[in-house]
Amino acid sequence: MNVNLRLFYTLFFQKISVVYLYLIGTEELGHLEMIGTIVYQLTKNMTVEEIKEAGLDQYFVDHTAGIYPSSAAGMPYTASSMQVKGDIIADVHENLAAEQKARVTYDNILRFCDDPDVIDPIRFLRQREIVHYQRFGEALRIVTDKLDSKNFYAFNPEFDKRKKRR
Ligand SMILES: [Fe+2]
Repeated sequence: MNVNLRLFYTLFFQKISVVYLYLIGTEELGHLEMIGTIVYQLTKNMTVEEIKEAGLDQYFVDHTAGIYPSSAAGMPYTASSMQVKGDIIADVHENLAAEQKARVTYDNILRFCDDPDVIDPIRFLRQREIVHYQRFGEALRIVTDKLDSKNFYAFNPEFDKRKKRR
């Protein structure tokens, strides 16, 4: 998950059209639900032998067949994986990187996968990450254009300008 919803608020207060970015944040939560459902369907009826053969015995001891949000290497999900700098240029770049990293993760899953019932939704999710990347690219262009026409270095003057108004 990335910082789409945080970007929504930043862009909203800059009066930039951000309806699509808000929808991306909501859609990402839907993707989490889809992945959780796939994992649930694949693991719910595993036998003890299948669990051992798949290398899921340690996971089973901790979580049985419950869906525990973690990386493929077993690192639990934490908010520390979300990067928020508070600078719209930096945060949009972070989102662009997050979309590409999600796409590569789906590419890697597809390299391992031979189940058509998994391949099809993973291909769909991969395609959505590409669309998200394109929308964030458009957002970066809009933000850069509207930031300040004399701002050649594309830094974010939002914070410093606020300070001067006081
Ligand atoms: Fe995405």
